[in-house]
Amino acid sequence: MQSHIIILLYIGVACVSGQDYYCYQYPTHSDAYNVKQDDHHLPEYYGYEPTCPDAEDIAPCVCTYVSGYKHLYLECSAVENEEQLKQIFEADFPTKNFKEFRIEQNNNLKVLEAGVFNGISFDMLYIMYNKLEVIELQALDSCYETTIELHLYGNNITSFPFDEVSQFSKLCYFSIGGNSLSVIPADVFNGITALKYIYLSENKADIVGTFQDLPNLRDLYLYSNALTTIPADFVKTGSSNLSYIPLHYNNIVSVEPGAFDLVDGLDIYLGYNPLSTLDEATWRPHLEAGGLLFAPHNPLVCDCDIAWLFGEDQLLEQVGDYTACSDGERLHDLDPSMFDNC
Ligand SMILES: *[C@@H]1O[C@H](CO)[C@@H](O)[C@H](O)[C@H]1NC(C)=O
Ligand SMILES: *[C@@H]1O[C@H](CO)[C@@H](O)[C@H](O)[C@H]1NC(C)=O
Repeated sequence: MQSHIIILLYIGVACVSGQDYYCYQYPTHSDAYNVKQDDHHLPEYYGYEPTCPDAEDIAPCVCTYVSGYKHLYLECSAVENEEQLKQIFEADFPTKNFKEFRIEQNNNLKVLEAGVFNGISFDMLYIMYNKLEVIELQALDSCYETTIELHLYGNNITSFPFDEVSQFSKLCYFSIGGNSLSVIPADVFNGITALKYIYLSENKADIVGTFQDLPNLRDLYLYSNALTTIPADFVKTGSSNLSYIPLHYNNIVSVEPGAFDLVDGLDIYLGYNPLSTLDEATWRPHLEAGGLLFAPHNPLVCDCDIAWLFGEDQLLEQVGDYTACSDGERLHDLDPSMFDNC
């Protein structure tokens, strides 16, 4: 009997959320069981039922309650304008914290206004594929202490309150990729220990500053921006789980030694940039630490400056197959004896 209930509850969640979370972990079967068996003395489980607002008070937003997890979801994709969204959050909300908020494929909102959520907080925010241009200061202030994932991909955002990012104490996933920012400050993320995924890609933006003190960072998406030089200490997170830094489609002409953390298994993508060489001082430590480098579609000059890749330590094996000289010949296809006189 119990297993039937749990299966139904999983299907219910799958329908509401429609996708897996990056950071949030649903309680497991045994967690759900333990809650029932052991935690019924806790006020948050015993007699506590999250409650949706009256449906007519929040239309066209729709509130859904998944009873098994006691989660509330709010979906506002059909909202008509800024004023209407603001009025909706002036309704009576018996429960102030929701698991998830969504506005997707909405063409009506241009601005997410200061204080719009009126004290209601969300753990997951999906505000994607809309036409938003401005996220005002303190538009998200009610979510500082709750938000684990903030998804803002695919809007037209030109203004975002980056100085508030450090207030999101649980932030694990942050995406403002696919927007229209002209400058993105890197330092605002520094010290947010929960952060695992940062997506700043597809903005054509200058990324200023450095990424430091992010001990749990895994992926840092920076492709399709306007980076030209990568300074020393650009990515010094201290994370031993750093695994993926895509930098393709920037305008990178140089990468300074010491630019990246040295981590076994770190893949750095530098394709489609105007790099003319792979400096030994920069890249030997990365490859020796067990990292990989992918640099296709760069106008690399295949002269003595890259001879170090063809030494006895065979570091070339950690350079992607499609990395090629400016004439298109792949590094892996070069005859190593051509470097004998270097
Ligand atoms: C993005 O916003 C700008 C104004 O900041 C506007 O001119 C442009 O048409 C918008 N682009 C899209 C795709 O909506
Ligand atoms: C790295 O990731 C693994 C697997 O996801 C995890 O078990 C481990 O705790 C992480 N290590 C650190 C230092 O975050």
